[in-house]
Amino acid sequence: MGNLAGHTILLTGASGGIGSAMAQELARQQATVMLVGRAAESLESTRQRITAVGGNAITVVADLLNPADRERLAVMASELPSGLQGLVHCAGINEFALLEGQGESAIEAQLSVNLLAPVLLTRAVLPALHKAGNATVLFVGSTFGTIGYPGYTVYCASKAGLRGFSEALRRELADSPICILYFAPRATRTAINPPQVEAMNQALGNAMDLPEAVAQAAVKHYLAGKPAQCYFGWPEKLFARMNQIMPAIVDNAISKQLAIIKQYASRQGRGS
Ligand SMILES: NC(=O)c1ccc[n+]([C@@H]2O[C@H](COP(=O)([O-])OP(=O)(O)OC[C@H]3O[C@@H](n4cnc5c(N)ncnc54)[C@H](OP(=O)(O)O)[C@@H]3O)[C@@H](O)[C@H]2O)c1
Repeated sequence: MGNLAGHTILLTGASGGIGSAMAQELARQQATVMLVGRAAESLESTRQRITAVGGNAITVVADLLNPADRERLAVMASELPSGLQGLVHCAGINEFALLEGQGESAIEAQLSVNLLAPVLLTRAVLPALHKAGNATVLFVGSTFGTIGYPGYTVYCASKAGLRGFSEALRRELADSPICILYFAPRATRTAINPPQVEAMNQALGNAMDLPEAVAQAAVKHYLAGKPAQCYFGWPEKLFARMNQIMPAIVDNAISKQLAIIKQYASRQGRGS
């Protein structure tokens, strides 16, 4: 029997690269996964992959920026007879561009999808998490939530906010059985990264992981319930630590990459 038999887990970003792979890992542990995203077809193909191997999943098409959709998710969670055992925030967007090239709407969208929506959704489903008792909330952050990086100013701010929120919530709920986790991948080969980011990472010698490997590590972290914050990938794991205690060293290392980063970061981002 899997470790998550009888658990229902709400997973946002389930139509994406890391989220879809996480959904399959969670289902392999016998959880019933609520697959949340906007792209109905991608959600459905993940659901079919799960059910084809005997797992359980349902799809919920929802835009996390839409209050009515968040409310619908909260109602679904509240109607679960044993509560909601797991909430995984994996939805996220980014814009790789210098700040001067980031439009206001792109800035707002990154802060809203990556930070505001997880805060509001967590609050909305808290009663269902309390009802479950030993529930787990896992936030998918990023190494960029700890290491500020050129070309990702707004994304870094959103993920740093998410990390801060998860830390404060963990301490706020320390007298309850709810477990709050933050999992930070490094660059991963998914649709979030446009070709110029892949090219830049190659030019800089930055490793890029496969989503399946990231998902396996994230679900391992979910199952272990510790450490509170987990960083995936070496040497990013070390840089994240170093950045907190000796930021000048990391400033210096990144300044050596700056010319190359600026070659690839468009002055005009994808959003307006
Ligand atoms: N790939 C990387 O290099 C990397 C590195 C570190 C951290 N991460 C983090 O990992 C997480 C997953 O990213 P990924 O690489 O798997 O990217 P992805 O393949 O682009 O997936 C992004 C997911 O976010 C969902 N999403 C975006 N806006 C949404 C909205 N308004 N409402 C509902 N869902 C929304 C997308 O669903 P729909 O389009 O169907 O709505 C999709 O499922 C993100 O939080 C990302 O920041 C990624």
